[in-house]
Amino acid sequence: MHVPFFTFRDFPAGLEAQVEAALVQEWRKKQFILGPTVSQFEQEFGQYLGGAEVVGVGNGYDALVLSLKALGIGLGHEVIVPSNGYIATINAVQQVGAKPVFAEPDAQSYNLTAATVAPLLTPQTKAVLPIHLYGQSCELDPLLQLCREHHLHLVEDCAQAHGARYKGQMVGTFGAVNAFSFYPTKNLGALGDGGAVVTQDAAVATWLRRHHNYGQSRRYQYAQVGVNSRLDSIQAAVLRVKLSYLETLNTERQRLARQYHQLLYGVGDLVLPTVTSSATGHVYHLYVVRTQHRDALQQYLAQQNVQTLVHYPVPPHYQPAYRPLGYQKGDLPVAEALAATSLSLPLFPGFTEPEQAYVVEQIKRFFS
Ligand SMILES: Cc1ncc(COP(=O)(O)O)c(C=O)c1O
Repeated sequence: MHVPFFTFRDFPAGLEAQVEAALVQEWRKKQFILGPTVSQFEQEFGQYLGGAEVVGVGNGYDALVLSLKALGIGLGHEVIVPSNGYIATINAVQQVGAKPVFAEPDAQSYNLTAATVAPLLTPQTKAVLPIHLYGQSCELDPLLQLCREHHLHLVEDCAQAHGARYKGQMVGTFGAVNAFSFYPTKNLGALGDGGAVVTQDAAVATWLRRHHNYGQSRRYQYAQVGVNSRLDSIQAAVLRVKLSYLETLNTERQRLARQYHQLLYGVGDLVLPTVTSSATGHVYHLYVVRTQHRDALQQYLAQQNVQTLVHYPVPPHYQPAYRPLGYQKGDLPVAEALAATSLSLPLFPGFTEPEQAYVVEQIKRFFS
């Protein structure tokens, strides 16, 4: 058997036919840029989130950059970011001219917490930018409280957590301005690049609607110097279909995660994903286990035709691109340990029972 890390399957059955139909229908409308389907998707996603302004943009990275810009964050400011995330989050901070400051994640949830952020605050700190990593919502109340006390903005990176809830409320509705990616493999994925900025603030939404379209207020009138970062109508059409199934897709991911948990509990030295409290919902964008034998296990699984990935093998502060920030080996031990021990197992909607059983069997064999 060959088990892919991820592949697109027709789950739930009929989804692919609906996506194809939506593509053809959208093509026939011939309103490729900022057509009515984009506004429809923005409204529907806003409703899904429980009430929010949504502005579709070109990708998740742009969503982060525009979120920071909308809050006036730039040169001379510091933004606290997790030391164990994806590089896009850090690049976005750097892109607006601010300085990324790395905070260690919690060793169980792998998410940023108020406890590690607090000691890093300086008069230059303007925002805290947590990632709901692998699909689990951060413990947001203490972060929000810290931000309130110090007059900081909270910006949520929701690229891996569409539909995850904190205390029953959707992520993406807590921070001042928040970012989503619709990269194809995300829980809510387009057929190419796409992203969205989400805010509760109507004035910020108005600014964003201008800014992402060259700063245009009315046709050929430019109130501000903007950029071009728009969600394509054709992607919005696909996202409307997939959004209607997001709860189903996330429920399936959660079921698969529970299966893994039952079948892998107590195997070798595996540390399974931990949902750290009843407040922090998890939608399992990734199912990440940890082991001291990570490289050997990954190699063994590859030999058995099971594809796995590492999210992420090199922490951002080790990357040559971020050497100028001056971090040394050993400065961020939790992030460094996670990079050395984490392994993401295959998990995606449409993943079959025999496939999952095969992965589990191979892992048990490796540890026996
Ligand atoms: C946590 C996180 N932030 C930001 C991004 C960037 O999104 P995009 O690839 O759409 O630019 C991604 C994913 O790719 C991500 O996982």
